[in-house]
Amino acid sequence: MIIKIINETQNQECDVLVVNKFENEKTISEIANKYAVEEDNFEGKFGETYILPTYGQEKHRKVIVIGFGKKEEFNPNKLREAIAKAVKKAMSIEAKTVAFKLDGIEFDYSEQFTMGAKIADYKFDKYKSEKKDKDVKEIFVEANESIVRKAEKIADAMAFTRNLANEPAQFATPTELASIACDLGLETKVYDKEECEKMGMGAFLAVGRGSSQEPKFIHMKYTCENPKKKIALVGKGITFDSGGLDIKPASSMLTMKDDMSGAACVLGVMSIIKELAPQVEVHGIIAACENMPGCSAYKPGDILIAKNGKTIEVDNTDAEGRLTLADALCYACELGVDEVIDIATLTGACMVALGSQAAGIMGNDTEMVKALIETAQRNGERFWELPLWEEYADSLKSDVADMKNTGSRWGGAQTAGVFLQKFVKDVKWAHIDIAGVAFLESVHKELCKGASGAGVRTLLNYLLEV
Ligand code: BES
Ligand code: MN
Ligand code: ZN
Repeated sequence: MIIKIINETQNQECDVLVVNKFENEKTISEIANKYAVEEDNFEGKFGETYILPTYGQEKHRKVIVIGFGKKEEFNPNKLREAIAKAVKKAMSIEAKTVAFKLDGIEFDYSEQFTMGAKIADYKFDKYKSEKKDKDVKEIFVEANESIVRKAEKIADAMAFTRNLANEPAQFATPTELASIACDLGLETKVYDKEECEKMGMGAFLAVGRGSSQEPKFIHMKYTCENPKKKIALVGKGITFDSGGLDIKPASSMLTMKDDMSGAACVLGVMSIIKELAPQVEVHGIIAACENMPGCSAYKPGDILIAKNGKTIEVDNTDAEGRLTLADALCYACELGVDEVIDIATLTGACMVALGSQAAGIMGNDTEMVKALIETAQRNGERFWELPLWEEYADSLKSDVADMKNTGSRWGGAQTAGVFLQKFVKDVKWAHIDIAGVAFLESVHKELCKGASGAGVRTLLNYLLEV
């Protein structure tokens, strides 16, 4: 999909002209006012659409009127959602060229317009032998060129992440993630099993032992002149989570190819970072492996030694993400960065608490957590803070080691959070649990089913705003 910036979009020759209508107000199109408003009583409730033909009287073959709802309730997030709806509608009538004439909007809509149009354009059909070509090829809009181009890059990064997380585990292996990382044109180091052993990553390596796939520890680095800050992004990279010997029931395993969504997010961010060029040094870190119950698998009761020397009794092999993250967080903290942000499909408990409406966020620095929540809110994602009270660590006590890898079932997202905190040293840190939002079971606003690209928009904007 190409977005072209022009003046006077209503005079552009195209298949469809999209105009907006606020509730109880007229649209900019006379014919839409006549047919949609006067004759058919189309009110313009939020997200409603109305299609009308122009019988060769106009440069556009059809008009789509999109309801923007009440003007006083309208905002950039609603705009993005409505634009995505309009693009989907245009696709449904096989329009190839679509012009937008938007009117009466009291903010610069360039950014969220682009996000809405591009997100609506995403599909994962690479394994379909018959592809439905319903794509809109060209979009014409009156907008700010440089903002549109920046937003296009962020949307491309989201699509990159969604493709990776939608990819079946048979292809998206740790080795494949490492090779993708190496192709991003950044300074990248991939550590193999032996090198991870030398670094003392006993927790990460234990998780990968039951699989025939080799574990890979990936470190990508982006630098610029005089960075204002140094930030490490750590993504959970379990390319398939069977649960290990504490094997999951079949139905819970169905979507577990998505257990590398955190890693996919970090790769998506790193894929576009050179082009967006934020004024920060950014490290992308992924401990990638598969959690399988093979004959060398780690077992309940095993005691693992993490990179920082702490010992962990394995209580449940399905709480594997925090073990891989433990070593990855130790590694990140040793880089001497100012901030560490980890992003992970970590707990079913977070999904129970917040559903698919929000990611959970925890951290040791109120300002940083607040900034991330606000950036998310402005960019169409929701992060909701959960408490990291130290009492949550009580149930992690072990009789034989420094801690167990699981605690009480209740408050499971926070228990996982305080577990991770034991591997964070002298740095501002935030943990984002995307278990409920990374892979959608049904359409959610502008997002279709499947991988959602959770975290990409927020983290890229966060880096750009430093
Ligand atoms: N990858 C899962 C968490 C998950 C669940 C992600 C559902 C997406 C959707 C994680 O590794 C896991 O299995 N967590 C366990 C932890 C438990 C054993 C303490 C869980 O949440 O049940
Ligand atoms: Mn698990
Ligand atoms: Zn997992």
